[in-house]
Amino acid sequence: MDVEAAIRARRTHKRYGPQPVSDETLRALLDLARFAPNHKLTQPWRFRVLGPSIRAQIEALAGEQEAVKLRRAPTLVLATASLSGDPVADEEDLHATACAVYAILLGATARGLASYWRTPKCLREPDVRTALDLGGDERVVALIHLGPALGEPPAKARAPLEAIVEFVP
Ligand SMILES: Cc1cc2nc3c(=O)[nH]c(=O)nc-3n(C[C@H](O)[C@H](O)[C@H](O)COP(=O)(O)O)c2cc1C
Repeated sequence: MDVEAAIRARRTHKRYGPQPVSDETLRALLDLARFAPNHKLTQPWRFRVLGPSIRAQIEALAGEQEAVKLRRAPTLVLATASLSGDPVADEEDLHATACAVYAILLGATARGLASYWRTPKCLREPDVRTALDLGGDERVVALIHLGPALGEPPAKARAPLEAIVEFVP
């Protein structure tokens, strides 16, 4: 699948098969993230592949209602941006990390995997941040859900090109 096809085919999936993504595939996907554009080569992205123990801890801290949602995908990858505290650099580093996350989603789509960019509220809670050993400099950007697709969600409507593009003479 070429890049344009992956961009058009990607969907937010909320239903997954039970098979976790192999470490080999995960490494290949996370490797794509390294090539995202980033100003001054700060490479601000950090990734944590969440194993059963930390997932159980987060679920317990988040409560059952949220835990049900956290169990939707067999593989979860937490993407954070390591920020310096400089407002301009931090803004750019968040943008760069978002690009890195998108690279992972597109790579997953190209491999026929389902994916989902989620930012659950529990990841902003101090006890969950502590369990994940998140540094004070780290901002959560995405909890990337990955796994086998169960069906194909319909494409969500987008505003037409004319509504968002202006050719400025
Ligand atoms: C920064 C960001 C945060 C998001 N957080 C959530 C979330 O917490 N929960 C959710 O259901 N979807 C979340 N999404 C996914 C969007 O809701 C989804 O991309 C949008 O509805 C368009 O659907 P599509 O991905 O199928 O094109 C997030 C997307 C982005 C870019």
